[in-house]
Amino acid sequence: MNNSSIVSINDLSKQDILSLLDDAAFFEQHPDSKILDGKLIATLFFEPSTRTRLSFETAVNRLGGKVIGFSDPAATSTSKGETLKDTIKMVANYVDLIIMRHYLEGAARYASEVTDIPVINAGDGAHQHPSQTMLDLYSIFKTQNTLDGLTVTMVGDLKYGRTVHSLLMALSHFDVRFNFVACPELQMPEEFITFCRNNNIRFNISEDFNAEVINESDIIYMTRVQRERFSDLMQYERVKDLYNLHNAMLDDSKPNLRILHPLPRVNEISQDVDDNPKAYYFQQAKNGVFARQAMICRALGITNFRDLIK
Ligand code: CP
Repeated sequence: MNNSSIVSINDLSKQDILSLLDDAAFFEQHPDSKILDGKLIATLFFEPSTRTRLSFETAVNRLGGKVIGFSDPAATSTSKGETLKDTIKMVANYVDLIIMRHYLEGAARYASEVTDIPVINAGDGAHQHPSQTMLDLYSIFKTQNTLDGLTVTMVGDLKYGRTVHSLLMALSHFDVRFNFVACPELQMPEEFITFCRNNNIRFNISEDFNAEVINESDIIYMTRVQRERFSDLMQYERVKDLYNLHNAMLDDSKPNLRILHPLPRVNEISQDVDDNPKAYYFQQAKNGVFARQAMICRALGITNFRDLIK
C-alpha cells in the first residue's frame, strides 16, 4: 500500500484540504507545464464517465505527463474473468499512478492495498468521490471566498450520491449548516446523520424544496437520481423527477448563491437556469482540472512544482 493514495476524503486532514485548495489555485494560474514529464498515469474506468476521466486526462496532459487506460472494461481481460487484483497488479507494472473508477464500494481501497503505487479513487459505487469533492470545495471557496459560515443545501439523491457523502465529510471541518432535501427513500443515510449529531453539525431534513430553503442557501448542490444504483426500477420511476430547479425559483435567493451540480444532469436543473449568473456547474466542472492537477502532484509526491514553474 502507498500512503500517498487518495481513496476517501477522510484520508485528508483539514490542513491537507486547505493545502490542496491552495495548490488548485496555483494550477489555475499555471495549468500548462512539464512538471509531469516522464510520468505515466493509468485511468482505469470500470464505470462510465465524461468529466472525471477527461478532466484527469486533461490535467495530466497539460502538465506534460502521459496517460494509458480504458473507459470500457468490456474491451479488457476483465471480460475474460481477470480479477481486479490481477488487473491492478499488472497495470502497476507499467505506470506511476492509477486513477480508478469502479462500480463496487470499497474497490478503490482494495486496489490501493494490492499495489505499492498510489491510487486515486475516481468514484467507487455509492461510497466516495474525493476528487469531485476537492473541485466542489474549490468551487465553493472561489465563489464564497470562505468555507465557513455557509448554508449548503443538498438536493435529490442523498442516499446513493457519493458526491454528497464526500462533500459532507469534507465540509465537516468547517462551520457549515446543511439542508438535506430529499424524499424519504433517498434521504441522507443514517450513518451520516449520526456523524452530524456526534460532531455538532447543524442540519435540517426536509422533503420540501421550498422558497424558505432556497432563499437561505449560499450553495445549492443539486444531484441526479442515479438510475444505475436502483435494483427496483419502479422505485426509480417514482422518485426520479421529484426535484426540479427552475429559474423563477431563484428570484429571491441570496446574491452570493451559487448552484452546483456534479453533473451529468437529467431533469433536476431546468435549462432556463443555465444563463442565470448564479448557475456555476459548468465552471465547477472546469475547476476539476486544477483540483485534479493538485491531487495528482500530491499522490506522486511532487511538492516543488512552484519552483519548477517559472
Ligand atoms: N461528476 C462526475 O463524476 O461526472 P462523470 O460521471 O461524467 O465523470
